[in-house]
Amino acid sequence: EEKPVPGGNDVLVKFDEGIAWVHLNRPDKRNAMSVGLAREMNAVLDALEIDDRCKVIVLTGSGDAFSAGMDLKDFFRATDAISDVERHRAYRETRAWQWRTLMYYAKPTIAMVNGWCFGGAFTPLICCDLAIADEAAVFGLSEINWGIIPGGVVSKAISTLMGDREALYYVMTGEKFDGRRAKELGLVNEAVPADRLRERTRELALILAEKNPTVLRQARMAYKYAREMNWELAAEYLTAKGDQTTFVDVEKGRAQGMTQFLDEKTFKPGHGHYNR
Ligand code: ACO
Repeated sequence: EEKPVPGGNDVLVKFDEGIAWVHLNRPDKRNAMSVGLAREMNAVLDALEIDDRCKVIVLTGSGDAFSAGMDLKDFFRATDAISDVERHRAYRETRAWQWRTLMYYAKPTIAMVNGWCFGGAFTPLICCDLAIADEAAVFGLSEINWGIIPGGVVSKAISTLMGDREALYYVMTGEKFDGRRAKELGLVNEAVPADRLRERTRELALILAEKNPTVLRQARMAYKYAREMNWELAAEYLTAKGDQTTFVDVEKGRAQGMTQFLDEKTFKPGHGHYNR
């Protein structure tokens, strides 16, 4: 019997082959992100983290958009009219899913950019581990075009992947760019033709789904935290994180890998993962 998953309204989840395809689902509004969508995404991400049908998340959009950014009507105009405390609570829902949860999520995440990607949409895009775009998808830091700064946490997020010259160029001009350019800028791993997008994303997701999930989680966390540290602290932290990984890994991957390579000579780590 299928366990129900939250969402179904502003967010749609489809399971297949261990992949949870999570769709931002307001296609009539180009998947602009409202406060309601944020609440639903928080519930969905919380549920998928412990749902066995999901080994990998693909975040994408319904219809012809990934997401047209924050919903100007629901997220800005409507929250301008409420108290500062209420507004802060609404913003907190968005911060929670767009970066805090996604950045340190227990399962690997791939953003599949299928179309329009503007402003606030850069945050979840960047906070997914990996990203693949339709080469014709259209991106833009359009904030300047309607009189705001790339806020929320967009300015910070782009600075982690883009060089300063490129980031400031797009912040200041609001010029659009396509998926191929997004690849050059380091915002996505690959840009592929529209008719290859889903299949290429599926291929990559299935590679991740085959790995030892504990070690994969630890490796992602280790990279993301070590990035913020100096060399001395990173060396100390990574050694400890390595020991913790061995301790929490129910599959005992490290021992299996060593035995299969050194004793049984049944696999070579340089060519692929050990026999699970
Ligand atoms: N906020 C609220 N509503 C939106 C948003 C948005 N970000 N984006 C699109 N919509 C709505 C439109 O108002 C329209 O609603 P309606 O049918 O009730 O009139 C509907 O979605 C369809 O949008 P169109 O503009 O008709 O679609 P089109 O395909 O012609 O254009 C495009 C798509 C280019 C994405 C355009 O909608 C657009 O420029 N959207 C805003 C992009 C943007 O700058 N986002 C904000 C970035 S800043 C930030 O996120 C903080």
